Amino acid sequence: MALYSEKVMDHFRNPRNVGVIEDANGIGEVGNAKCGDIMKMYLKIEDDVIQDVKFETFGCGSAIASSSMATEMIKGKPVSEAMNLTNKAVAEALDGLPDYKMHCSVLAEEAIKSALDDYNKRKEQ
Ligand code: FES
Repeated sequence: MALYSEKVMDHFRNPRNVGVIEDANGIGEVGNAKCGDIMKMYLKIEDDVIQDVKFETFGCGSAIASSSMATEMIKGKPVSEAMNLTNKAVAEALDGLPDYKMHCSVLAEEAIKSALDDYNKRKEQ
């Protein structure tokens, strides 16, 4: 069996939602100290619904594929639903990741949660 699924390769080669949202109202940045990879997530949220999402990932192919898939999974979804996205769900949507690459999908979950936290904080102010 190939190490990476077709879906991982597809999202790695043609990542969806790459870039920056200038007027984002939720921004999160996370990194993994061990591998040094960094992921930044931008959210544009209106009426508690994610209207747009973009990401920048300086990292491995699995991290790029995970962020691409994760953004597709939360686009158009309510904040409450996006909050429940797990790295496991992202990895499953990619038809699996090798065990030693699961932490790359964790980065995607954390980046989204961090951006949602930022959105909630801004809302309180
Ligand atoms: Fe670090 Fe993939 S090796 S996120």
